[in-house]
Order: sequence, then C-alpha cells, then structure tokens
Amino acid sequence: MLAVLGAMALVLVAGAPWVPPGTTEDLRPPQDVEVYIMDNDFALLWSRNHESASNVTFSAEYQTSEMDYWVKLPGCQDIVDTKCNFSSPKLDVYEEMKLRIRAEKGNHTSSWNELDSFILFDKARVGPPEVHVEAEDRAAVIHISHPGRGGSMWALDNFSFRYYILIWENPSGVKKTFSTDNLTERIFDLLPETTYCLEVKAVLVRERKNGAYSPVVCLNTTVENMVPAPENVQVYTKNSNFVLKWTYAPADVTFRAQWLPAYSKRIHRDDSDKWKPIPACENVRTTHCTFPQDALAKGNYFIRVQASNGNNTSFWSKEIRMNSEQYIPVLPPAIVMKPSSESLHVSVSFHDSTSNFHSLTYEIIIWKNTSNTERRIVERSPEFTIADLQPLTVYCVRARVLIETYSWNKSSGFSDAMCEETKPGEAFITIWIAGGLVIASLVIPLVVCALRSLLSCLNYVFFPSLKPPSNIAEYFSEPSLKNLLLLTTEEQTEKCFIIENTDSVSVKESTQAEDEHKTYASQTSQDSGHYSNEDENAGSETSE
Ligand SMILES: *[C@@H]1O[C@H](CO)[C@@H](O)[C@H](O)[C@H]1NC(C)=O
Ligand SMILES: *[C@@H]1O[C@H](CO)[C@@H](O)[C@H](O)[C@H]1NC(C)=O
Ligand SMILES: *[C@@H]1O[C@H](CO)[C@@H](O)[C@H](O)[C@H]1NC(C)=O
Ligand SMILES: *[C@@H]1O[C@H](CO)[C@@H](O)[C@H](O)[C@H]1NC(C)=O
Ligand SMILES: *[C@@H]1O[C@H](CO)[C@@H](O)[C@H](O)[C@H]1NC(C)=O
Ligand SMILES: *[C@@H]1O[C@H](CO)[C@@H](O)[C@H](O)[C@H]1NC(C)=O
Ligand SMILES: *[C@@H]1O[C@H](CO)[C@@H](O)[C@H](O)[C@H]1NC(C)=O
Ligand SMILES: *[C@@H]1O[C@H](CO)[C@@H](O)[C@H](O)[C@H]1NC(C)=O
Ligand SMILES: *[C@@H]1O[C@H](CO)[C@@H](O)[C@H](O)[C@H]1NC(C)=O
Ligand SMILES: *[C@@H]1O[C@H](CO)[C@@H](O)[C@H](O)[C@H]1NC(C)=O
Repeated sequence: MLAVLGAMALVLVAGAPWVPPGTTEDLRPPQDVEVYIMDNDFALLWSRNHESASNVTFSAEYQTSEMDYWVKLPGCQDIVDTKCNFSSPKLDVYEEMKLRIRAEKGNHTSSWNELDSFILFDKARVGPPEVHVEAEDRAAVIHISHPGRGGSMWALDNFSFRYYILIWENPSGVKKTFSTDNLTERIFDLLPETTYCLEVKAVLVRERKNGAYSPVVCLNTTVENMVPAPENVQVYTKNSNFVLKWTYAPADVTFRAQWLPAYSKRIHRDDSDKWKPIPACENVRTTHCTFPQDALAKGNYFIRVQASNGNNTSFWSKEIRMNSEQYIPVLPPAIVMKPSSESLHVSVSFHDSTSNFHSLTYEIIIWKNTSNTERRIVERSPEFTIADLQPLTVYCVRARVLIETYSWNKSSGFSDAMCEETKPGEAFITIWIAGGLVIASLVIPLVVCALRSLLSCLNYVFFPSLKPPSNIAEYFSEPSLKNLLLLTTEEQTEKCFIIENTDSVSVKESTQAEDEHKTYASQTSQDSGHYSNEDENAGSETSE
C-alpha cells in the first residue's frame, strides 16, 4: 500500500500530468483561433501546437442563441489543415453564435477552445466587386456587381453600397476617384484611342465597412466616333408637358431619347436593355421634344439622347437624372394669423402630396400694408412669431413652402396675401387709461356712471385685448371694470344706480353705452373671428 502511494507521489513529483480518460497528454486545443469572413465566405483559422503535429485533426462545433446544445460545424470536421470553410447559406448572418474547436487524435481529444460569441454580419468584410468594362470613344462604361455574388450576407444591403472607382491613364496618368451608387456607371471626358486602367471597391457606408479593391482592369478607348453624342441634355415643364432639349452642332441627323427608372441602375449591373424609348422623342429632327407629364409615373429617372445619321449612330449622351415630382407644381400653403400688440403669430399649414421629402422649410414675407419694404423669414417650423412690430398697424403676410430632397429642390407657389392689424400696445393703453384717470379723479364724485361711457369708449377702441389695469380695477372694486364695460346684467345696472346724482343721466348713458357696444359687436362679427381669441372677451359673446 505504502509502496503504491510512494510510487504515486514519485509520479506526481516527476510532474507528469494527470491524464483524464479520453484525452492524450500531448493533445492541447488549437490556438489563435480566428473567424475570417469576407462576403459569403466564412473561414475559421487557427494554429496547431508543435508537439502534436502528427495525425492530429481538428473539429469545430457551434451554437446559436436559440440553441442550448452544440452542433457540428459543417465544413469544419476532422480537418488536417489549420483552416476550414464553413460557408453555408443556412447560417443566419444576423444571429449571435458561439464557436468552439478542439484537436483530436484517434480516440483522444483536447479540451475545447471556445470563442467569444459573435455575429457573422458584424465580422464580415466587404470583398471586391466584380468589374467589367466597355470602351467608348470618350467614356468608359463600367459594370459593377454587388460584392458577395448575391449570397445572404449583403442581401439586405443592395442599396447601401457606394462604389469608388479609381481610374488612371495607363501607364502613368494621375489617378482620379469617382464615387457612385450606380452599378452601371460611365466615366466621361476621356481621350479617344487611349488606354485607361481602373479598379473598384465597395463601401458599406452605414456600417463603415470599407471593401477591398477589385483586380485592375484596362480598356482602350475607341477611335473618335464620326457622329458625336448630343450634349447638355435638359428637361423642363411647359403646360403640363415635359420638354426635353439638348445641344447639337447643325447636322443632318435624327435623335432619339430613352428613359430608365433610376433604381434600375442600382440593381442591374448592365442596364443597357432596361432603357425604354420616350414615344414622342423618337426620330426627331429638332434638338428638343415634348411629351406629356403623365408619361412618367412619380419617381426618379435617367434620360439619355442619341444622334444618328442613318449610317452611323453616336454613343449615348451623358445621362441626366430627373425626378418627375420635381416638376409637378405644389399648391400654396394656407396661413392663419394671430395679432398681438407688437408681434404677429403666423401658422403656415401645408398639405403635402409629394412623397419622400428630405425636409420642408417655410418662407414668409411680411410687409406693412402701407409700405413696400418686405421682410423675409425662413424657418424649419411652420409657426412664426414675428416680433418688433408696431401696434395698431396693418401688416400683410404671404407664405410658401420650400421642399428639399437629396436630389432636387422646389417650392410651392406663394399663398395669397393676408392682412391683419396688430393690437394696441401696452404703453398706449396706459396713456389712455392714465388720461382717463385724471379726468375720472376730477369728476368722480359727480358722475361715476359717466365714466362708463368713457370706458365703453375705451372699450370701443381697445376691445380686442383689453386687460383692465389693476389700479383701475381697485378703484372700482365692485362692479368690476369688465362688468362696467360690458354692461351685460341687470345687477350691474342696479349697482350703478346706487351712486348718487346719477339718476336720469346714468340711465341714458347706460343705454347709449349698450348701443355702442352692440354696434361694435356687430362690426366685429364680420371679422374672421380673430378678435375672439382672448378669454377676457368671453363676455362679448354673452352680450351679443
Ligand atoms: C497515423 O495514423 C495512421 C493510420 O491511421 C498510422 O498508420 C500512423 O502510424 C499514424 N502516425 C502516427 C505518427 O501516429
Ligand atoms: C467555401 O465553401 C463554399 C461552399 O461550400 C464555396 O462556394 C467557397 O468557394 C468556399 N470558399 C473558399 C475560400 O474555399
Ligand atoms: C478507440 O476505442 C475503441 C473502443 O473504445 C477501440 O476499439 C479502438 O482500438 C480505439 N482506437 C484507438 C486508436 O485507440
Ligand atoms: C439584392 O440583389 C441580388 C442580386 O443582385 C438579389 O438577388 C436580391 O434579391 C436583392 N435583395 C434585395 C433585398 O433586393
Ligand atoms: C448615377 O448615374 C447617373 C447618370 O450616369 C449620374 O447622374 C449620377 O450622379 C450617378 N449617381 C451617383 C450617386 O453618382
Ligand atoms: C490596348 O491597345 C494596346 C495596343 O494598342 C494593346 O496592347 C492592349 O492589349 C489593348 N488593351 C486592351 C485592354 O484592349
Ligand atoms: C459610319 O458608316 C460608314 C458607312 O456605313 C462606315 O464606313 C464607317 O466606318 C462608320 N463609322 C463609324 C465610326 O462607325
Ligand atoms: C451613308 O453612307 C452612304 C454610303 O456610304 C453615303 O452615300 C451617305 O452619304 C451616308 N449618309 C450619311 C447621312 O452620312
Ligand atoms: C391696405 O391698404 C389698402 C390701400 O393701400 C387698403 O385698400 C386696404 O383696405 C388695406 N388693408 C387693410 C387690411 O387694412
Ligand atoms: C437645395 O437647397 C439647399 C439650400 O438652399 C442647397 O444647399 C442645396 O444644394 C440644394 N440642392 C439641390 C439639389 O439643388
């Protein structure tokens, strides 16, 4: 027994590792394990341990967040090499996954080396796009394929790539960069009969994934075409038609124009058979043609024009991009104004019928009715408060909406001018009230009710926003100034009668004041309701 223990101790002292069943003492898990993903190629790389060089193989397993067990990773079983390819359309590239790998030799295995969990898409690099080129006399036509050859990795990113084209005159020209979203792109302004080389990379802008450049491809531009291409293609609207025009040196040629929906350029690497003729623009001899606006549905288009002399045709013109909505007139907005004494609040309301706005801004023009000097204000919000105005002054306002998208701008027509008078200023009221007070303090003992007519006179002038100054209100604690002014109830009339020396005169005054008030009320009721916004004026409604 002792001898056995002694032997064990000896073994332990000698440092020989304890070997669990099913493992071999020199089998250790692979090191430097890395997942390398480019487009739809998924690779696992590792390094082996020197001491286990012979007859060792490697196998990996994976688990996704939805699984609580490990599954053999296809393509990565019994691998003799130090890398494996686990590309599979079955793997969800957006799902979090875990990976582990071990070394195996016969019946013996190492422990697992488990990686931190990861998402395939996050690790994915953008591979080089496939590039084909065609030569024209003065342009290179470049056909670009999405990276990933249509696999699942970038399937949701078809429209998120931006391509950078690096082009130079061979052998030693300056390198120029162009960027585009188009899969068919033409680089213009090249020299005829010249060799150019180019390479293209794709960048997934949102994810900040910078792709690898494609292999360099070269082309020789052709001999200069005898029939030059039309230039300066432009489009505008006239009487609900589109007018397409271009420039061309006088020659015995006919022209034809074609259109292509803009999205087409972003999904087809060769758009040449996607272009459609513009019916009214085939075989025209003029350098313009006219076609109805409804020939094109809402959206973005490319348009191009070609010349032909019967024997030869030109290359296509530079394409122009147009948005059919850009040319559709926009109805003017409506405006609502709320005057205060020294400012004016203007709300612009606009019902948009155009789709996909980038942003709307509102422009208003304001001027005094009596002057020609205009003030222009542009804001992102449709609510404007225009300050520093003069009280009791008529201001006029018109408004329009500016529509800005990433590729075009346009504006609505201006609304009709609306005019509104600002309310009396605070200072103005105080002066009048103060004047009234002076008079009042002189004659109060005699005719308080006479004051009512003065006040109703004030009311006549200031009715819209009259807030009785507190000193006045104190002076006549009961009835309140407001009630005095409005003279709406019997009760107030009675209180008026309590005061001495006011008998018949006050009755007369009171009636007169009421009449005046009614006159005023019937005047204001014709106004478009803009005086009725003040709570203080609620009484005016009951009195009507
Ligand atoms: C490797 O395995 C083969 C057969 O599977 C065997 O013949 C060979 O001896 C082994 N080599 C080593 C170094 O174990
Ligand atoms: C990986 O495997 C896939 C399919 O099994 C194959 O299409 C691809 O070319 C392979 N990638 C590499 C780098 O071998
Ligand atoms: C592996 O184990 C099986 C049975 O468990 C045995 O028959 C076989 O000989 C073993 N092979 C090696 C290489 O140890
Ligand atoms: C992306 O483009 C590929 C081919 O270029 C196509 O097969 C795939 O359906 C497209 N995906 C989407 C979401 O449009
Ligand atoms: C796509 O191509 C058109 C026509 O060639 C060009 O006007 C447009 O600028 C291109 N788009 C980008 C983003 O470069
Ligand atoms: C361009 O032309 C030169 C000679 O003129 C030729 O050697 C070269 O192969 C051509 N390149 C291409 C891409 O056609
Ligand atoms: C134009 O047509 C004539 C005769 O049809 C032909 O000889 C000539 O090569 C053509 N030119 C071009 C640039 O295609
Ligand atoms: C077309 O070619 C024929 C014969 O080559 C020539 O007679 C005619 O003038 C050419 N037409 C034009 C418009 O250049
Ligand atoms: C504005 O002025 C014109 C004359 O200059 C006048 O006819 C019009 O009534 C005024 N408008 C308002 C709202 O006062
Ligand atoms: C649209 O207008 C804004 C602001 O005035 C300007 O910065 C932008 O360049 C314009 N865009 C186009 C496409 O004209």
